[in-house]
Amino acid sequence: MDNYNLIKTMHVTCAAISVSGFAARGVWMFMGSSLLRHKLTRVLPHAIDALLLLSALWLLLLSGQHPTGRDWLTAKLVAIVLYIVVGSVALKRGRTALTRALAFVVALGLFAYIVAVALARQPWPFA
Ligand code: HEM
Repeated sequence: MDNYNLIKTMHVTCAAISVSGFAARGVWMFMGSSLLRHKLTRVLPHAIDALLLLSALWLLLLSGQHPTGRDWLTAKLVAIVLYIVVGSVALKRGRTALTRALAFVVALGLFAYIVAVALARQPWPFA
């Protein structure tokens, strides 16, 4: 496997771990589980997300692209910022259970959109 595909595999793996961790934390939050306060639960997601973004930057460097150089990359960048903000409303900042639940569903929807954009390389992949 060449360098580019190796980093892409790492990128996709981190993305899969990131969303699984987010979903697990959401479920633990709604169940009131103490696992949410476990040290690993608080540290690991940041490490995985840092690797996800680092691998994204690496892919951009290797392919000589700029994050705003193509519509689909800009769409991905905007969507990931929204995913981070909405995700933190779901897991931390939301004041009521309803706000958190809605934010949780929207964050998962944004994640699905990011994957669809990555696969179709189109800012609107559902056409
Ligand atoms: C939640 C965040 C992200 C997810 C779920 C995600 C998902 C993916 C997936 C599934 C692929 C593989 C596409 C394929 O096999 O054709 C990919 C590739 C890629 N992603 Fe991401 N990504 C994320 C964040 C980002 C960010 C923030 C950037 C930079 C703006 C980025 C840049 C790239 C690049 C340059 C590729 C390689 C495209 C190619 O050569 O096919 N990704 N991403």
